[in-house]
Amino acid sequence: MEIGIDQISFFTPNLYLDLTELAEKRGVDPNKYLVGIGQEKQSIVPPTQDSVSMAANAASILLEQKSTEFLNSIDEILFASESGIDNSKSGAVYLQKLLNLKKNMRAIEIKQACYGGTFALMTAFDYVKLHPNKRILVVASDIARYGLKSAGEVTQGAGAVAMLVSTQPRLASYNWDSVFQSEDLMDFWRPLDQSEALVFGKMSQEIYEKFFYEIWQTYSQKNLKKVSDFAAFVFHLPFTKMGKKALDQINDQIDESKKDQLEKNRLAGQIYNRKVGNLYTGSLYLSLISLLKNNILKNNDRIAMFSYGSGTEGELYSLSLAADYRQAILGDPAQMIASRRKVSVDEYEGLFRAFPEDSEDHELTNSYDSSHFQLKRIKDHQRIYGDNF
Ligand code: COA
Repeated sequence: MEIGIDQISFFTPNLYLDLTELAEKRGVDPNKYLVGIGQEKQSIVPPTQDSVSMAANAASILLEQKSTEFLNSIDEILFASESGIDNSKSGAVYLQKLLNLKKNMRAIEIKQACYGGTFALMTAFDYVKLHPNKRILVVASDIARYGLKSAGEVTQGAGAVAMLVSTQPRLASYNWDSVFQSEDLMDFWRPLDQSEALVFGKMSQEIYEKFFYEIWQTYSQKNLKKVSDFAAFVFHLPFTKMGKKALDQINDQIDESKKDQLEKNRLAGQIYNRKVGNLYTGSLYLSLISLLKNNILKNNDRIAMFSYGSGTEGELYSLSLAADYRQAILGDPAQMIASRRKVSVDEYEGLFRAFPEDSEDHELTNSYDSSHFQLKRIKDHQRIYGDNF
């Protein structure tokens, strides 16, 4: 019985910052951002969007036009985020209500830095294996926020990826080959009283590379697989250069005849991430969408997926593509990215500072946010969402 990702969709807010303009404003050579870090643009979040509204917007693309019978087969919503809106209540129950889903379901939030989305998927695969007539909705949604003028500023971004997990998946099957490891490390964290992440940037890159290298060695031995067994390696991309740094470590294991294909697919897998920025939990899955939309792959092509979450957890697993995988990517990510409105650096700084805190009441209106679901107000420490349609 094949189990995997049946359909996938993506949402990002409709504003972006041009990183060449940011570099000029910060007195940095633009090539540091464009080439050295590998980021071109980043999505900017209006006050009317947060991790829950973005998740609802991504999931609504998946669920529109589904029959009642289909919707009733969804037994769990797993909301993966490290920028959730509450320290206690799950963001998934807001999604259950906004998406009008049945009452008899589990609605759970999962947190482990950028790795949470992968754990949600693994949990979903296990559940569907035991309950083959059921489906799970997994949504990975985040705002990556490091702070104005911080080293991490260029690696910010925002967005959500929603996935349906089922048997007979139309996108890709999971190959039950995960290798994972974790270790208590302090490379990136966000204290409870702060809305911006703290990071030892160089240390986080080094640990990411080390985790990929170690996990790959174990994975290849345990699963008897070589680099040439894969059509592509897809990475969690906090910034696109990170994927290249990781893959370069196993360059000596890549056959000459395979190098060209892997490099083309690596580049295809970073096209959207270069323009959106880091989505934390959703970043690996945006890269998967980018690869599948920007290069032609074949039925049964095997794709290695490397998930990394600071703090630290890493996992490598593979997916095998379904025949009509392109039809299983719903919505139009390229159009969504291209139709965003550019904001100036001053406007971005104003929006960054206007990030609504729950300690004060806010009425949130935004003439340029036409997204389906929006955060409408914060009142008495409660977030109230609205359907814009
Ligand atoms: N032209 C081309 N490349 C340039 C350049 C220029 N003018 N100036 C610098 N670079 C290159 C550097 O050589 C470096 O490349 P390398 O890492 O391949 O050697 C790269 O640009 C970044 O420069 P660096 O000085 O290391 O950047 P930084 O100290 O400003 O920090 C991060 C970069 C990624 C560490 C920082 O943005 C960060 O902390 N981000 C958040 C954490 C994160 O994303 N961690 C990843 C793992 S989860």
